[in-house]
Parts: sequence; C-alpha cells; structure tokens
Amino acid sequence: MTMRRSIFLKNMALGLGASLMLAACGGGDSAPSATGEGGEAPDAAAAVLRVATEPAFPPFEFQAEDGELQGFDIDLMNAIGEEAGVEIQFESLPFDGIIPALQAGTVDAAISGMTITEERLQTVDFSRPYIKAGLAIAVKADNTDITSLEDLAGKKIAVQIGTTGADQAAEVDGAVISTFDSAPLALQELANGNVDAVINDAPVTLDAIASGNIEGLKVVGELVTEEFYGIALPKGSENVDLINDALMALMENGTYAEIYQKWFGTEPTELPESAF
Ligand code: ARG
Repeated sequence: MTMRRSIFLKNMALGLGASLMLAACGGGDSAPSATGEGGEAPDAAAAVLRVATEPAFPPFEFQAEDGELQGFDIDLMNAIGEEAGVEIQFESLPFDGIIPALQAGTVDAAISGMTITEERLQTVDFSRPYIKAGLAIAVKADNTDITSLEDLAGKKIAVQIGTTGADQAAEVDGAVISTFDSAPLALQELANGNVDAVINDAPVTLDAIASGNIEGLKVVGELVTEEFYGIALPKGSENVDLINDALMALMENGTYAEIYQKWFGTEPTELPESAF
C-alpha cells in the first residue's frame, strides 16, 4: 500500500494524467511505471493540463471580483481543453516566472498574452499563433511631444517586467526605464505623472483606456510592432500537437470566432500558420 501510494504521489507530482492515477489506485496487477509506458494508459500524459497565466492583462486574462479567471485566453484555453478532452487547471504566476516554470516542468503550458519570439523559442515551444497583437506607446492625454518611438529617447518609460514591451524600451536611447509586475501598474504610474510613456501590448492598453480602468491616457502613433501570441509549452512537450490540433478544430468549427467576437466585438483577423 505504501508502495502504491508513493507511485501515486510520484505520478501526481509528474503531472501524469487522471487515467494513470486511476490505474495507480485501481489495485490491478500492472502497476504503471512513472513514465507512463507499459501501463493501461500510455497516452495519459495530458489528462490534466496545468496552465500558467499572469492574470492582470485584460481582456486576455484577468480576475473577476470573486477571483474567477476571465478573458479571451481563458475562454480559448478552456475550449481547447474541451476539444482535446483534457482538464485545464489554471495557475497564476508572475509573468517573468512563467518560462522558468515551463522549463522546470511545474506547469505544462502557459497562455498569457505571450508573444512568440525567437528568443523565447530557444527555451520553450509555442503553439501556432492564436491572435495578432503588437506594442503601442501610451502617453498622458495632453502630451504633444511624444508621437513615435524616436521621441522616447531620453524619456522615462514604464513597462511590465519580462515583456516584449520591456525589450523594446531597453533599445530606446538614453531612456530611464522603470519595471512593474503588471501592465496596469505601469499604466497607473503614467497616469500618476511619474513617467512619460508606457510601452505595452496595444489591445491591453486600449482596453484599459476604453474601460475607464485608467484615466487620462492616450495611445500615440502607429503600432510599434506586430506580434503573434502563442501558447507556450516546455521544449519538446508532447502536448504541442494536442493543442495545435484542438486550436485548428476551434478555428474551423466557429468556436474560435465566437470567443473572438465575445471579447473584441469583431470578426477574427487571418493568422499565419507560424510566427516566423
Ligand atoms: N505580449 C507581451 C509579451 O509576451 C506581454 C505579455 C504580458 N502578459 C501578461 N499576462 N501580463 O511579452
């Protein structure tokens, strides 16, 4: 019994699936190995998917007053889980802790408005792009001297730590950068008049302004970048195909368009099969 329990706990710790857990508790003769091979459930690795997100990024992920997770990414991930027949267990993490968690294997995937970048592809895998976004510059509504990236030289810029916005700010000549744990905190710093600009994902900054969550700001100029979000997975994860197949199915059967309509009020734009 002790033996069985320890196999059970080990399987749990490895994030192996529910059917494997059933097999481990079932008292059959064939105790499954921790790797899942040789048991009754060779393909059980994905029955529960632990999915990381940093939930202060509306409209992609945020917490309702009762703490419940909401947003485009949350609906999409739940739909993927339903389509693929796996249970989605969300886990809130700081944004800059998500890739380390994927690398350590303490989560199985992450959906967090995360841009597919060449740099991140060195350490994690991504699903196919699931939405197009990009960075935008926000300034105070009455600001007239900043209208482009070039105008940010030597200015004070607030960003969320570990983001593509932070990377972009780091390239601005002579800029003084302050980093925050969340995008709303960076935007609030700007609203408070402590910095000159924020570089952040356009849909999130626009949502913060439109919803009235942050007052007295505007977005200037063109989109600074064009970026595609993907669901991140540990390098070599066997769940990449599972997620891509489900995503494709949702794009074909109209579910994706429905979720997109719900959060953005328009038809989805066309997406490339890969970000690069
Ligand atoms: N798209 C940007 C990036 O990948 C920002 C994402 C921030 N996401 C979040 N949930 N806070 O770096």
